[in-house]
Amino acid sequence: MPRLSVWLIRASFLYLLLGLLFGALILAEKGLVFYTPVWNLFPLHVEFLLIGWLFQLALGVAFWIVPRFGKGFSRGPEGLVWAAFILFNFGILIIALQFWIAPAILIGRTAEVCAGILFVFGTWKRIKPQKA
Ligand code: HEM
Repeated sequence: MPRLSVWLIRASFLYLLLGLLFGALILAEKGLVFYTPVWNLFPLHVEFLLIGWLFQLALGVAFWIVPRFGKGFSRGPEGLVWAAFILFNFGILIIALQFWIAPAILIGRTAEVCAGILFVFGTWKRIKPQKA
């Protein structure tokens, strides 16, 4: 597995753990009503599980399994995908700070969309039919 996929997939697992923890806390709060501000974790629960885990896991696996160039090991312009990884996680973490930074959602979503575009540019040429 390429190093970049390791980073993407490990990061996705971290978000999975945090997202599940936050979900469990919110669920407990719903049943036990022990500390209402726990609901502040709700947007993080959704962001971490949908974007941080599911989306990032898909990127990591895609970067790994999409066909490589020729018979070599080249995965094309990896720098673009590294930039996508950094920008993507920057976006998620900024969104996690939405209660403290006013335009956090706008900045974070913009970073995530830009990361997606970089990933597409970095992977596009590897999406090709198998040679007979
Ligand atoms: C892959 C796993 C999961 C994903 C993608 C996910 C995603 C979501 C989403 C999108 C919502 C918002 C639903 C809405 O607005 O109607 C939500 C709500 C919630 N989730 Fe999760 N979730 C996951 C797992 C879990 C787990 C394991 C727990 C508990 C241990 C949990 C607890 C909650 C709670 C308590 C809510 C709030 C429900 C309410 O509005 O009353 N989630 N989740």
